[in-house]
Amino acid sequence: MKVLVKRNSAFQEFEVPRYPSQTVLDVVTYIQRVLDPTLAYRFACRVGMCGSCAMTVNGVPRWTCRTHVDKVVKDDVMEIAPLRNLPVIRDLVTDMREFFDKWAKAKGSFEGRRTRHDDFALISSEDEKRKEANKGIECIGCAVCYSACDVVSWNPEYLGPAALNRAWTLQMDERDAGGAQRLRAVAGDAGCHACHTHMSCTEHCPKQISPTAGIAGLKREVTRALLKKAL
Ligand code: SF4
Ligand code: SF4
Ligand code: FES
Repeated sequence: MKVLVKRNSAFQEFEVPRYPSQTVLDVVTYIQRVLDPTLAYRFACRVGMCGSCAMTVNGVPRWTCRTHVDKVVKDDVMEIAPLRNLPVIRDLVTDMREFFDKWAKAKGSFEGRRTRHDDFALISSEDEKRKEANKGIECIGCAVCYSACDVVSWNPEYLGPAALNRAWTLQMDERDAGGAQRLRAVAGDAGCHACHTHMSCTEHCPKQISPTAGIAGLKREVTRALLKKAL
């Protein structure tokens, strides 16, 4: 198979043998271990948990450790590039700082309201808000959605689908006390109202999360708070 790997601005060509159940990450690892040890890329878990191995494969953002070559190769050719919408450090490695800084800007950290002196608060998995939070909770921070989002490309200030999905799961968490502050954080020009509902994030998320739905929920919550003059 011919593999074209983006390195700085040009593509470098490699010939990589195929085998059954081979993943895209296996291909990159083969290139680095056998053909060119200077190739830089990032991975950690290899089992779809850490979110560090995402790359652009034949033009589509994907988690590479769980993407089989058979599913994505075209005419025995595969093109591998770093994720879009993030600065490239080297070869296939992107700088994730702005991605995670936006989680912080969207107040994506849990604000506990209880102390060690309070009783345990058991929330039923049938609770409607809990069910809503659970839909987005399995995010692995891979930035596939961020890379797929055209609004991020047009407006680098846009908080993006992952940060807003995180904000939504916390808004739906009964135990969290950061609601009003978080709504203010996501209500600005770079927040939920900048989303054009293109659904690219939802189509590409490897964990079948729908940031689009969470962002729509945030838009409703912001509007409700504005009508109540609570923002
Ligand atoms: S739905 Fe919104 S966040 Fe998702 S890709 Fe489209 S514009 Fe970006
Ligand atoms: S929402 Fe999905 S695509 Fe986006 S960072 Fe989380 S797991 Fe990755
Ligand atoms: S290496 Fe951890 S998700 Fe792919």
